Amino acid sequence: VSKRIPLVAGNWKMNFDHLEATYFVQKLVWLLRDAHFDYHRCEIALMPSFTSIRSVQVLVEADHLNIRYGAQSVSVTTQGAFTGDVSADMLAALGCSYVIVGHSERRKYHPEDDANIVDQVRAVLTAGMQPILCVGESYEERRQGIELDFAVGQVHDVTRDLSSDQAAKLIIAYEPVWAIGTGMVATPQTAQDAARAIRNDLAATFDTNVADSVRILYGGSVSSKNAAELISEPDVDGFLIGGAALDTDELAAIARLT
Ligand code: G3P
Repeated sequence: VSKRIPLVAGNWKMNFDHLEATYFVQKLVWLLRDAHFDYHRCEIALMPSFTSIRSVQVLVEADHLNIRYGAQSVSVTTQGAFTGDVSADMLAALGCSYVIVGHSERRKYHPEDDANIVDQVRAVLTAGMQPILCVGESYEERRQGIELDFAVGQVHDVTRDLSSDQAAKLIIAYEPVWAIGTGMVATPQTAQDAARAIRNDLAATFDTNVADSVRILYGGSVSSKNAAELISEPDVDGFLIGGAALDTDELAAIARLT
């Protein structure tokens, strides 16, 4: 039986200003309170835009909420003349626990290559937070039958530069690109196969302690309709959720099912 506490993380992407974020958190907490949700059984995290993080922090601290939060990307530099960038220390100062690194939308729309992603992971760890490293194949790699090698390779590109202490702090999100925002959710077996392959690679690169402690999330069209099946797989430790995390009822329902 796994000792890993499941994580339900909502990636809001570029949605919700700080007022909408405030309303969302309040409503989510009411819903979960009504449902007697056990925050020790399943962890909930929200990943707002930079501009909404402070509002989420204020609410969480004022009401001692059991909700964690983080950012969707981070600069690889620590400070200075980098117009438009936000440093890991700035995020840590806002009480962020997590930073999403290497989301496929960042890899596609921004110059985030493997080297940059490794540097982001390092920056997040150095600032005392945990990276949520996103990996996953496109439809083309799946068609060629190389999906597992591809996703494991993306993980390996990062982990080969980390110590085992650093690797143990990673959270990995397997998000096949073809499943993101498409309604085409991976089957539980597909999610399990990828999570298992990634965990095996962690064991080979480091050891079973590291492999057993890293949480591996599934992301891609997760909803209250498919969450229960997916989480029943032994190597799936939770979810990184896009669309369904913009709806309080959906997110609360997924958390209850996880
Ligand atoms: O990071 C979450 C994500 O990319 C999945 O999005 O909308 O398919 O749940 P969605």
